[in-house]
Amino acid sequence: MNPFVRFLTSSIGRKYVMAVTGLSLTLFLLVHMAGNLTIYAGNQAFNDYADLLESNPLLPLAEAGLAGLFLVHVAFAVGLIARNKTSREEGYKAELGMGRKTVASTTMWVTGPLLLVFLLIHIWDFRIAKELVEEYDLAEMVVERLKSPIGFGIYVTAIALVGLHMWHAFQSAFQTLGVAHPRYRALITHTGRLITALLVAGFGGIPFYLFFLG
Ligand code: HEM
Repeated sequence: MNPFVRFLTSSIGRKYVMAVTGLSLTLFLLVHMAGNLTIYAGNQAFNDYADLLESNPLLPLAEAGLAGLFLVHVAFAVGLIARNKTSREEGYKAELGMGRKTVASTTMWVTGPLLLVFLLIHIWDFRIAKELVEEYDLAEMVVERLKSPIGFGIYVTAIALVGLHMWHAFQSAFQTLGVAHPRYRALITHTGRLITALLVAGFGGIPFYLFFLG
């Protein structure tokens, strides 16, 4: 077998792919969250930001890359779960490489699939729905969605899930990539938690702002 394919189908190879795609998705989330903050400057600022993105001819390529990252991350997670199910209990713990058990680490396999369901709703909400109408106002669509109790509930729950998933994922990814020297462990853990807190506050503030003050 080709050594690269052999690596990708090994446990550590799968975990490497999960770590690299997970960290790339974290980068996307930070950029996405920062862009969303323009809503505080008003609908026009939010739409101007969206228009700026859309005027970039490389956007379809970036979207395809992003979809690829999500698909690979999910597919490899499913592969790892299937493999772990057939392993012994001890092998299971070692294979996950999760270290100390926390609520965040033991719920990774629940928060992950729930986030996938949210993503399908979310992409329908804003990415696909806008293609179905001739004239649309993206900011207006966001405000309308987040001002409704159901929309507010879905987004607040999803952002809490992002927080729970990410709380553990960041340090787990670095551990997989071999950057787990005791000297860096605290730094990595704190950086991961800071990024998670930024994402939760940045994304989470928007539904609260629109629902209560918008
Ligand atoms: C307050 C929370 C959020 C708001 C207001 C929001 C808003 C939006 C909007 C308006 C779009 C469409 C952009 C466009 O078509 O120009 C979008 C796309 C997207 N969002 Fe969010 N988002 C939020 C949270 C999230 C979260 C938590 C995730 C991931 C877990 C996420 C992942 C995505 C993805 C993958 C796309 C598709 C990107 C593309 O193909 O262009 N979003 N979001």
